[in-house]
Amino acid sequence: PITLVTTVAELHAESARLLAAKRGTSQGLVPTMGALHEGHAALARTAVEQNDVVVASIFVNPLQFGDAVDLDRYPRTLDADLALLDGQGVDIAFAPSVEEVYPGGEPLVRVTSGRLGEKWEGASRPGHFDGALTVVAKLLHYGIPAAGSAGPVGPAAPAGGSGHSGDAGHSGNAGPSGDAGAAGSAPGREGLAAYRAYFGQKDAQQLALVRRMVADLNFPVDIVGVPTVRSADGLALSSRNRFLSGEERDAALVLSRALRLLEQRANAHEPLDLDSAVALVESQPLVELDYFDVVDPASLEPLAENCRETPFRGEGLALIAAKVGPVRLIDNMPLSS
Ligand code: PAJ
Repeated sequence: PITLVTTVAELHAESARLLAAKRGTSQGLVPTMGALHEGHAALARTAVEQNDVVVASIFVNPLQFGDAVDLDRYPRTLDADLALLDGQGVDIAFAPSVEEVYPGGEPLVRVTSGRLGEKWEGASRPGHFDGALTVVAKLLHYGIPAAGSAGPVGPAAPAGGSGHSGDAGHSGNAGPSGDAGAAGSAPGREGLAAYRAYFGQKDAQQLALVRRMVADLNFPVDIVGVPTVRSADGLALSSRNRFLSGEERDAALVLSRALRLLEQRANAHEPLDLDSAVALVESQPLVELDYFDVVDPASLEPLAENCRETPFRGEGLALIAAKVGPVRLIDNMPLSS
């Protein structure tokens, strides 16, 4: 059964104990803010498949919220969250207090998300990605498996690095995640278990930023991206969907429908015709479109204008954000052709 810990010291002790008990050679971390749904469950399930010990963190990070109302309103459902994680086979739930994560209050020094964090979601949520990356940096450090946990270097920790055992064969790990392999083979990691952290493609800009932080700042962890989980009618699962009325929820389906239109055109090597996809979204009066564009999956820079008029080739990422009633929704679709 899952063990709940609330301090970093307990987390380290419990993970070291479990790695030793299982003779484990790999640890996975699934960072969340709780209010868990099937999207989070998919991250947990993937982590459990790929690692001997899995930690899920549940922490509503004040640093990434623009206003106190939004922070207060964020759903907190710890008992249900623990049951969901336990059901996926997660070993440890780490649910620290704000004081545990930020002793002494808000940190003076933060991670900056730079230009990549200022566009798209960052444009309407100033400071959001700096706050998110700062807590992700801390969580990634908390989750580093204990030294000596993998025992002496042997068959369990081959010289090729940690990336080989799980990532390569993981079908949901296509595309931009392929660059993650080098991180786990950083020098001085002998005797440490492989270390992977799991993020949803649903938050595409957050995933791109975490990949860049880990690459640019040499964090000893492999980042694994997990495909977006949707309800049967196409709506991307989100803890904010619960604030939609029935009518608003129906209206919100136009986002995934428009993305699917682009996906079909990309798959058929047709011009994307973004204009008609935008028109589809704008035909829905309850939906107030913020942005809708096709970008490079790593830099998030818009693709050249001509991909809309000429047959689509290569890799792209369609990004959409809209306000539906009281809720700001984001969704995206990787395009490949
Ligand atoms: P949260 O919104 O709780 O999401 C936790 C993880 O679940 C993120 O990696 C997110 O992309 C993933 N996720 C959410 N909905 C998903 C879906 N429908 N399909 C697949 N994955 C989904 O994102 C955060 O928390 C925070 O910013 C955090 C990274 C924990 C830092 O505070």
